[in-house]
Amino acid sequence: MMNMMKFEEIKRSALKAVESVSDTEKLEELRIKYLGRKGELTHILRGLKDLAIEEKRKVGPLVQKLKKEIEERIENKKRVLNTQYSLLNTSSLDITKPGKKIKTGHLHPLTIIQNQMREIFSSLNFSVVEGPEVETEYYNFDALNIPPDHPARDMWDTFWLRQDEIKNKKSKIKKDDKLSAESGKAKSSKLLLRTHTSPVQIRYMEKHEPPVQIIVPGRVFRYEATDASHEINFYQLEGLMVGSDISLANFKFIVEHFFKKFLGPDIDFRFRPSYFPFTEPSLEVDIKCKGKWLEVMGAGMVHPNVFRAVKYDPGKVQGFAFGVGIDRLAMIKYSIPDIRLFYSGDLRFIEQF
Ligand code: PHE
Repeated sequence: MMNMMKFEEIKRSALKAVESVSDTEKLEELRIKYLGRKGELTHILRGLKDLAIEEKRKVGPLVQKLKKEIEERIENKKRVLNTQYSLLNTSSLDITKPGKKIKTGHLHPLTIIQNQMREIFSSLNFSVVEGPEVETEYYNFDALNIPPDHPARDMWDTFWLRQDEIKNKKSKIKKDDKLSAESGKAKSSKLLLRTHTSPVQIRYMEKHEPPVQIIVPGRVFRYEATDASHEINFYQLEGLMVGSDISLANFKFIVEHFFKKFLGPDIDFRFRPSYFPFTEPSLEVDIKCKGKWLEVMGAGMVHPNVFRAVKYDPGKVQGFAFGVGIDRLAMIKYSIPDIRLFYSGDLRFIEQF
């Protein structure tokens, strides 16, 4: 009578050993151990002849089957080990070498800051609106109460677009050539790169009835010499809130809330009188950050002439507007000493964010 327990044990240990062997020499040793002339399985096979005929019939096929299975597994394993071996020894392919790291991009610091600003103002119920970077003289200046001979135009050094180069765009210009609401004169369609995001105030109010509560992030351009704090293009975020009773008190709350969320709660504020043609009264906001006063924002109550330009009744609505430099805030938040770094494309700078 064959010891079935012994048989099962040989089966288990043989299959397990083949499975875990990791080189061809050891594999050959295993083959001899089980299938060789004096192997464990061979021994059982030989013993079959001494069994009763009944039993021979029963266990014979079992033992044969196991023998075949072990042979197959050994063959398979041999193939696997041989391929691994040849891969390891091919000089052109070293699979032990560490892989190349794939470089993934990330958001530009100005985008990160702009997203944070959008988020804070969105939580205060402001809608995000955008406008064109190529603007007409009317929207950039006239409608904002800055007529052609107004000295305030000197505050913005402007990139004008040469008219002969934009003749093809005539159809678009025609559309803007309606009469200005206030002066009755034709709206100037001379094109320029917008010097601020304020023209979007006009564009938005022309198309929407009050109340208004928007922010306008976007790129602006000024024709000026560059230095550590001036670039020929940079980013602004405009704010506009108009309704029947919107006041500077509302402005103060919103702005203080914004800066505390953006930079942390330990900030002092200073509201200084200032001048902008499109706000009256106008003011400038300074914040005290790391012991230093910094000028961060221009603002004021929307000028009645601005309301007239968009056919709002200045007797019925009032509100505030503000403009803040996104680059400026990024410089403050990240302690960046030079605005030109944002546009340099220098990876040593960019990769720090
Ligand atoms: N447009 C102004 C600038 O670029 C900022 C501003 C916006 C001031 C809105 C008042 C109100 O300097």
